[in-house]
Amino acid sequence: YGAGLRGVVPTLPVDFATLEQRARAALPPAVLSYLQGGCGDEFTQDENARAFRHWGLTPRMMVDCSRRNLSIDLFGMTLPTPLFMAPVGINGICTQDQHGDLAAARASAITGVPLMASTLSNDPLETVAETLGDTPGFFQLYTPKDVGVAESLVHRAEAAGYKAIVVTLDTWVTGWRPRDLNAANFPQLRGHVLMNYFSDPAFRKLLAKPPEEDPAAAIGAWAATFGRVLTWADMPWLRSLTKLPIVLKGICYPDDARRAIDEGADGIYCSNHGGRQANGGIAAIDMLPGVVAASGSTPVLFDSGVRSGTDVVKALALGATAIGVGRPYTYGLALDGAAGAAHVLKCLLAEADLLMAVNGYPTIADVRAAGAVRQHP
Ligand code: FNR
Repeated sequence: YGAGLRGVVPTLPVDFATLEQRARAALPPAVLSYLQGGCGDEFTQDENARAFRHWGLTPRMMVDCSRRNLSIDLFGMTLPTPLFMAPVGINGICTQDQHGDLAAARASAITGVPLMASTLSNDPLETVAETLGDTPGFFQLYTPKDVGVAESLVHRAEAAGYKAIVVTLDTWVTGWRPRDLNAANFPQLRGHVLMNYFSDPAFRKLLAKPPEEDPAAAIGAWAATFGRVLTWADMPWLRSLTKLPIVLKGICYPDDARRAIDEGADGIYCSNHGGRQANGGIAAIDMLPGVVAASGSTPVLFDSGVRSGTDVVKALALGATAIGVGRPYTYGLALDGAAGAAHVLKCLLAEADLLMAVNGYPTIADVRAAGAVRQHP
C-alpha cells in the first residue's frame, strides 16, 4: 500500500482473479489450457476454490500483533513461512527457454518458499536443487513401473539434498482433461524434454540409443515405464528406498490418512491434484478437517484451490501444517519468469501476514487455536 501511495504500480496483479485474466490474454493457448485446465467439466476444480468461501475466520482483539511469526516446523526444520510451491510437471512450457523449472527454483530461492520439484521436470533434479540455494526443497515422485528407475530417482533426490520424498498417489494415469484433449495439446507437451528420465542412468539402460540420438524412442520408453499403480503393499518397498521423510500426496479420506500413518508415512498431503485428476469429488478444503483429525501429530500438507492469503490462513486454521499452491505461481512464472512466480508468492504471504495482524493471530499456533467456522453450505 505504501508503495502504491508513492505511485508504484506492481508489474503483475496482486490478486488471483486479475492474474488469471492477464494470463488468459497473454499466454499461448496450449500453455494456458495445460495450466488452467482440470478434469471433466471442472466441477471439482471450481469447487476447490469456491468452498473456501463457506469457511469463516474469527477475529480476536486486544492482542499484540505488531510482530507476526509465520514460521512452521516441518520434518525437523523451521521454515520461515507455511507456504510451499506444489509440484508442477513440465514447468518448462512456462518460459521461452524451456527452463521454467529453474525459474521456479529461483523464485523459491528469492522467497524462501520451498519448491516441490516434480518428477516430470524439464531440468534434472540435481540442477533444480542447486538453483534452490539455501531454501530447502522436496522431491515429488511419480513412481515408475520400472523398479530400477524408481530407486534411482529416489536415491538421486536424496543425494541432491532434497528434504522429503513426496509420493503422488492419484496419477498413475492422466485424468480426462477435455481442454488438452480438444486442443490435441499432448503432442506439444511431448516436445518438452523430460530431463529426470533422460539423465537417469537406470532409465538410459532401458534404451537402445541415448535420448539425445533418438528422443522419440526415449519418450516411448518413458511412457511405457510411467505410472506404477501403488497399493499399501508397496509401502515397505517405498520405505526401504530412503531414510528421508515420506509424504503421501492425494490423501483426502480420513481412513486413508490413518492407514498411511500405520504403514509408516511421515506426512499426509491432502490434495485432489487441483481437480486435474478426478472430477465429481468433494472440495479438498472440505476434506481437510477429517484428514487432520485422523492424522494426530503427523503433519498434514494441503493444496487445491488456494487462491489468496486469506485461503492460506483458512487452511492453517483448519489444521494444515503447510499450504501449497499450483496454478497461482505457474501463472506468475508464465507471465514473468522467476520474478513473476516470486511476486505471486510474496502477495500470498503479504495478504496472509496482514490478515493475521488484523485478526489478532501473532503466530501460526494462534491461527490454529482460533480455528475456522463453517458459515453456510
Ligand atoms: C500439477 N500437479 C502436479 N502434481 C504432482 O504431484 N506432480 C506433477 O507433476 C504435477 N503437475 C501439475 C501440472 C500443472 C500444470 C498443475 C496446475 C498441477 C498438481 C499440483 O501439485 C497441485 O496438487 C495442484 O496444482 C493444486 O491445486 P491448485 O493450487 O492449482 O488449485
